[in-house]
Amino acid sequence: MKITAVAPANIAFIKYWGKKNDNLRLPANGSLSMSLDKCTTTTTVEFDKKYRKDSFEILGDTVSDKEQARVSNYLSRLRKMAKSKFFARVVSRNSFPKSTGIAASASGFAALSVAASSALELKLSEKKLSILARLGSGSACRSIPDGFVEWREGNSNETSFAYSIYPPSYWDLRDILLIISAEQKRVPTTRGQEASRETSIFYRPRIDQARRLLPLLKKAFVKKNLEEVGKIIEKDTINMHCVMMTTNPPLFYWSPKTLEIIKNVYLWREEGVPVYFAIDAGPNVHLICEGGNEKSVLEKVKKIKGINKIIVNKPAKGSHLINNHLF
Ligand code: PMV
Repeated sequence: MKITAVAPANIAFIKYWGKKNDNLRLPANGSLSMSLDKCTTTTTVEFDKKYRKDSFEILGDTVSDKEQARVSNYLSRLRKMAKSKFFARVVSRNSFPKSTGIAASASGFAALSVAASSALELKLSEKKLSILARLGSGSACRSIPDGFVEWREGNSNETSFAYSIYPPSYWDLRDILLIISAEQKRVPTTRGQEASRETSIFYRPRIDQARRLLPLLKKAFVKKNLEEVGKIIEKDTINMHCVMMTTNPPLFYWSPKTLEIIKNVYLWREEGVPVYFAIDAGPNVHLICEGGNEKSVLEKVKKIKGINKIIVNKPAKGSHLINNHLF
């Protein structure tokens, strides 16, 4: 039977950079994110005796041998749970092509967890799905629940999972994603995180501060206070990039354009437009503002040269099944 799922990508407001357990992908700190409605992965899975091996395809994109193996290993974990012997065909499509430079591991492993577990009739709760997605790629666990999501750090496989703290309708926020480079990450995040833990002098202090900032961020969310929320987002973004840049060898994800946009964000705030930035493991900048200010932010952004693409995201619902299969 073919089963298809859609999962949103997410932008972290308190980020995840480093694990306390590599095998279980237990994060060194809890994190909080917003799911993105315009950046999604759709995945169709079919387990059948006609397949001689697992196959994984991303429409409009290439898949490396390493990625094939990672997906196949992941499917084996699910097969074991379901006591199944069948191989699977997996076909995915990202709403954001690889050429936009956005990592698809969060939405990718969330969609795969939901589609594959349902195809194997595993009937898992949202919590179990989040745990399963985490084992594929850490940040994927935050792409299972709806809207605004907290990933509880936990200290075991069963206690580290994500859940929705607010539905998408709670707060009309925007993530205006500015794509400035399609360049792919040269160092995969799993390896980058390990290197940071081993070598960056700022690794530990950032984890300690992220743990202090998370409850403050949640308090600011209760009040829907964008200024407090935004300042915390920027603080942890800068802290995480300090850790990355002080890793040996250094992980410089920013480009000159990234810094130009950051400096503009400060100026725009002085000019009265409440907007804040977040940056993941790449040069692209996410601008966080309220829906009412989307227009004024876009007007400002249009004056900056060298932005390849703009994606305006609203808070999204989490991973779910749909009836349109990709093959
Ligand atoms: O899920 P991973 O292993 O690709 O980690 C990605 C972590 C960041 O995107 C850089 C930050 C975050 O919390 O999403």
